[in-house]
Amino acid sequence: MHITEKNEAYYRDTALSPDIPGDCHGEVAWQSPSNIALVKYWGKHGVQLPNNPSISFTLKQAHTATRIGYRPKDGDEPGFTFAFEGKPQPLFAQKTANYLNQLLPYLPWLPKIHLDISSHNTFPHSSGIASSASSMSALVMGLLDIESALSGNPLSDDEFRTKASFLARLGSGSASRSVFPFASVWGATEAIPGSSQYVAFPMEHHMNEVFTTFRDSILIIHAGTKSVSSRAGHQLMENNPFAAARYQNAETNIRLLKDALLHADMDQFIAVTESEALQLHALMMTSQPSFILMQPATLAAITHIRAFRQERGIPLCFTLDAGPNIHLLYPAAHQEAVKAFISEQLLQYCADGQWIDDEVGGGPSKLNS
Ligand code: PMV
Repeated sequence: MHITEKNEAYYRDTALSPDIPGDCHGEVAWQSPSNIALVKYWGKHGVQLPNNPSISFTLKQAHTATRIGYRPKDGDEPGFTFAFEGKPQPLFAQKTANYLNQLLPYLPWLPKIHLDISSHNTFPHSSGIASSASSMSALVMGLLDIESALSGNPLSDDEFRTKASFLARLGSGSASRSVFPFASVWGATEAIPGSSQYVAFPMEHHMNEVFTTFRDSILIIHAGTKSVSSRAGHQLMENNPFAAARYQNAETNIRLLKDALLHADMDQFIAVTESEALQLHALMMTSQPSFILMQPATLAAITHIRAFRQERGIPLCFTLDAGPNIHLLYPAAHQEAVKAFISEQLLQYCADGQWIDDEVGGGPSKLNS
């Protein structure tokens, strides 16, 4: 069977005609979550193509809600207004303008429409939780919903999410993974038939149910914006002396994690997840210039986490994003024990005692407009 690759050419060729119905107007609203990578994407080429495949859990509580009012555009008026947390935000507005421009080949009707976009996050902007995945994916879910209204011929749920994943990827690679429930893979790998460089692919049917109950308790070790942007970080991989070995190991870890997810092999899940987190940081430490993004408190907390796992036999592990904060991953069945552990032993390492009680979730959802 020939499978059409859902790439730039496909979405340009199948784009909706820019001729929009004269009376089109309305409002759509979507919320979309952040995600946390288990096998990390770090290093890219071309137009947002990953140098290795990645797998993430889709989160639930940490999300962006975006409301978009739309109507035909009057002559020369600007194409959109943008408010974040109820206020104009020139920096985000500029980013959105650049992003909408990038989408024009795939959404050629955009210049005919005026958009009033307002967005808010459920997590503090400065908490160090990546907001690009949730904000890009919430925005594209809304745009595709408007496209459905304009065309009068909505895509199937699968096609809708896959197109959203493609468009979100152009804004932020990891955002491509937020549109699917529970977990997804992005980046072509022979280990997972259906995986692609251009869009993420759902892992829901390739994993044991226990992972759909997983909790992610996010310890805010240090609140603040990132000291290295992911754009700069990806670029640093171009001259990293360990890059080739890293990409090879990421492939190995994809295979190991795929099996661990399918068979609920907790030891393997933990080994891969923690190794990936530490590799990401090792890559940053060995880049030129180098970055140490963990704080002393990150390492102290990790030591406690490993000791707790060993002493209690509870399958609790950690992962890290490109920053000092710790994501504690564990099955919901152990929630009570882990929460007691957090308050007794880990809160001392959290900035102002802050942590976010998140979990694996079902992906974006449409809100009442
Ligand atoms: O999507 P970006 O360009 O912000 O890169 C994300 C990179 C990591 O969060 C560190 C890893 C990942 O796979 O999400």
